[in-house]
Amino acid sequence: MKTIDDIDVSGKRVLVRADLNVPLDGGRITDDGRIRASVPTIEALLARGAKVIVCSHLGRPKGAPEPQFSLAPIAARLGELLGAPVAFATDTVGESAAAVVAGLADGEVALLENLRFNAGETSKDDAERGAFADRLAALADVYVGDGFGAVHRKHASVYDVPARLPHAVGGLIATELDVLERLTANVQRPYAVILGGSKVSDKLGVIDSLLDKADRILVGGGMVFTFLAAQGHEVGKSLLEKDQIDRVRDYLARAEANGVEFVLPVDVIAATAFAADADHAVVSADAIPADRLGLDIGPASGELFADKIADAQTVFWNGPMGVFEMEPYSHGTRAVAQGLIDSDAFTVVGGGDSAAAVRTLGFDENAFGHISTGGGASLEYLEGKSLPGLEALEG
Ligand code: 3PG
Ligand code: MG
Repeated sequence: MKTIDDIDVSGKRVLVRADLNVPLDGGRITDDGRIRASVPTIEALLARGAKVIVCSHLGRPKGAPEPQFSLAPIAARLGELLGAPVAFATDTVGESAAAVVAGLADGEVALLENLRFNAGETSKDDAERGAFADRLAALADVYVGDGFGAVHRKHASVYDVPARLPHAVGGLIATELDVLERLTANVQRPYAVILGGSKVSDKLGVIDSLLDKADRILVGGGMVFTFLAAQGHEVGKSLLEKDQIDRVRDYLARAEANGVEFVLPVDVIAATAFAADADHAVVSADAIPADRLGLDIGPASGELFADKIADAQTVFWNGPMGVFEMEPYSHGTRAVAQGLIDSDAFTVVGGGDSAAAVRTLGFDENAFGHISTGGGASLEYLEGKSLPGLEALEG
């Protein structure tokens, strides 16, 4: 892959595909990590005299404009971080985009409106995607792929535009790839992986592949209840994916056969309702009352997990341990974050939700080895899948 040092960008219009898909509360950005992570590549291009055109998706609008998914608040935040005005196009490939790009001087930056306001961006039809890619490509002379969080998507801006323009990989993707390599080739052992989040169905592929690679797999979050059910325990009203129980049982058996240690919580916080002010108590993981639902791993599990992390040499963590947005159910996630900080291992926090969790819970980002901007992208890389956005940047 060519890097931005290998291409001439001075005086050129450079389209940067970033992933500025940040969590919003109304119009307020609740975690700007992905915007901050995108700044160095943009700054480097501006310093080299490029006219920089940034594009991204935000949320999952269905191919037409939806005001709540406008990138306007992101343009404002990007401008603050760059310390320079960001010209904002109110469409992606229309009149506004053309005018904004035409108005850029060397060393100036613009942001296009949400890519997913256009049906062509995510279309499964090659021709429809291609037609949109043609219009995006027409805005620029050079393409830089730097939206790591979206490289697993075969979308026009990720996959089709680089085929139409000279292209290079940005610094953010390059850094993410260096880190992922340390999780796949020459891994320092013990290698512990902590998986959380609500759905086990999102993590099947990665668990499957980690059963041959990790030394320990720790499971928390909503997906834990499917594991507990697979062990024959009552899980009350907790989140449960019944159709995955057999598969999970098979994973537990394979782990045992492979000598992979599978660590499940020994206690959970069980509440009467999905609410911060619901009555809640610590219960044994094998005795969740029928009328309660588990919303976090319990304190003994937090200690157990921290213990299993303490002497690891490599740790990858994806997915919160509980409903960390509600204080009573945030302690498991805190315990794991602290465990990573206290261990001497090379620690990687992967995934939008876990990355946002460590920041919103007030942990210092610099205390971790690496906080990834990619959730699904990191998981699919670890699964060994070929990622369209990386494929497109080869050659
Ligand atoms: C993410 O947040 O996972 C990335 O930005 C990709 O978004 P998507 O899952 O909606 O494609
Ligand atoms: Mg996602």
